[in-house]
Amino acid sequence: MTLTNIAVTPKTDATIFSPALAARFDKLVTLYPLRRSALIPMLLYAQDEIGHLSDAAIAEIAQRIQITVLDVRNVLTYYSMLRTRPVGKFNVQVCTNISCMLRGGQELFEHCEKRLGIGHKQTTPDGLFSLEEVECIGACSWAPAVQVNYDFHDNLTPESMDALLEQYRNNAGQAGQ
Ligand code: FES
Repeated sequence: MTLTNIAVTPKTDATIFSPALAARFDKLVTLYPLRRSALIPMLLYAQDEIGHLSDAAIAEIAQRIQITVLDVRNVLTYYSMLRTRPVGKFNVQVCTNISCMLRGGQELFEHCEKRLGIGHKQTTPDGLFSLEEVECIGACSWAPAVQVNYDFHDNLTPESMDALLEQYRNNAGQAGQ
C-alpha cells in the first residue's frame, strides 16, 4: 500500500487556508450525510483562494474529509475546471466543441494563441493570461463562447476577442494601481 492510499485522521489545528476558509470547511463537512459529499465544493473554494490545488491543499482536504489523497486526486483529475498547476490571473477557456466549432470556435482559439503568444494550457510570461481549449461550457446557443475565470462571453469574433483581452489587460492595470 502506498502512502496516498492511507486514510488520515482530520487535523484542523494547522491549515494552509485562511481562517475564514478553514472555518467554512469545518462547517461544510457537517452539512452532508457523508463527509465526502463536501469534496467538490471544498476543491473549488480552495482553488479560488490559492489559485490551484497544490499538494498541500489536496492533503489537507483529504484529512478534513477523512479520505485518501488518492481519492481526492481521482475526483479532481476528472473535472477540467479543477487544476493542480498555477494559471494566469485571467484563465481564458475557448470552447471548440461542435456548436462553437461550427461558428468559428477553432479559429477563435488559434487567434488567441497568436494574440497571446501561447498555446493550450500555457501562461503568458507576465502571468496575466492562461489559455485553454475546452469542451462545451454550456453556452452553445451563443456560440462561439469563451469563459474567462467565472465570466462567460459569447458570440465572439477575432475582433471582439481582441477587445475583450484588452479590457482584461486594462482592468489588471487599474487593479494594480
Ligand atoms: S459547444 Fe461551445 S458552449 Fe457548447
